[in-house]
Amino acid sequence: MSTIEEEFISTVSHELRTPLTSIRGFSQTLLNSWDKIKDEDKKKFIGIIEEQSNRLIHLVENILSVSKMNAASQVLKEVDVNKNIKKIISLIEAQYKTHTFKLELYSNLPTALLDEDKFQQIMTNLVDNAAKYSESGKTVTVTTEVIENKICIRVEDEGVGIKPEDYSKLFKKFSRLENHLTSKTQGNGLGLYITKQLVENMNGEISFESSKQGTTFNVLFPFYNQEDALKCSQLS
Ligand SMILES: Nc1ncnc2c1ncn2[C@@H]1O[C@H](COP(=O)(O)OP(=O)(O)OP(=O)(O)O)[C@@H](O)[C@H]1O
Ligand SMILES: [Mg+2]
Repeated sequence: MSTIEEEFISTVSHELRTPLTSIRGFSQTLLNSWDKIKDEDKKKFIGIIEEQSNRLIHLVENILSVSKMNAASQVLKEVDVNKNIKKIISLIEAQYKTHTFKLELYSNLPTALLDEDKFQQIMTNLVDNAAKYSESGKTVTVTTEVIENKICIRVEDEGVGIKPEDYSKLFKKFSRLENHLTSKTQGNGLGLYITKQLVENMNGEISFESSKQGTTFNVLFPFYNQEDALKCSQLS
């Protein structure tokens, strides 16, 4: 086993142990002292068990994604980017009811050559971060446009921003940055690591800009059809 694999397994084991220890501890307390625990505490403990179970499910899903993110496991086909973005936004909107989600989608956007499931995963990670790292009431804007023969997808938030000294850690696995929302929210620091690998495996590029006013992630993908590239270059 390589050092990288060993390090990955040791980090994963640690990440798994924390919620499991908490689930076991609270279940044991409930089982052993049921009659002595006040109703409101019972509810609180069960709430923690549920929260930690969700954390485990999220981690297991992310670990499965890491194992399946190599280029060999992707199926590239013609994909309607705008349609997929609308689908992802409707799912995430339901989880972040106090945020506003705005779509500015380019009409007649050429199709892209992508693995549809992996594209949805990329969008889910970026939009989830945009909402998670901004206060309630803020707006997340997703824009699509054509830039230099490529499809450009932009996810813009009004959140806490990323400090320049953290830029180099952003796409590293298991790295969560310090900000006041990271400690209040759940995550394993795998989302952007997976996202970058998936984007690059599908011949795309990812970049970001950030300030105290918020963060914007830009993703570029090639068109499905080379004729679209020609048409767009004639228009511009
Ligand atoms: N839009 C954003 N604005 C501010 N900080 C961000 C943003 N997106 C990511 N970050 C910071 O980068 C870190 C890494 O993001 P990443 O998506 O990889 O992990 P996560 O959200 O913590 O967990 P996961 O995505 O695995 O559930 C986050 O913990 C957060 O501190
Ligand atoms: Mg994330």
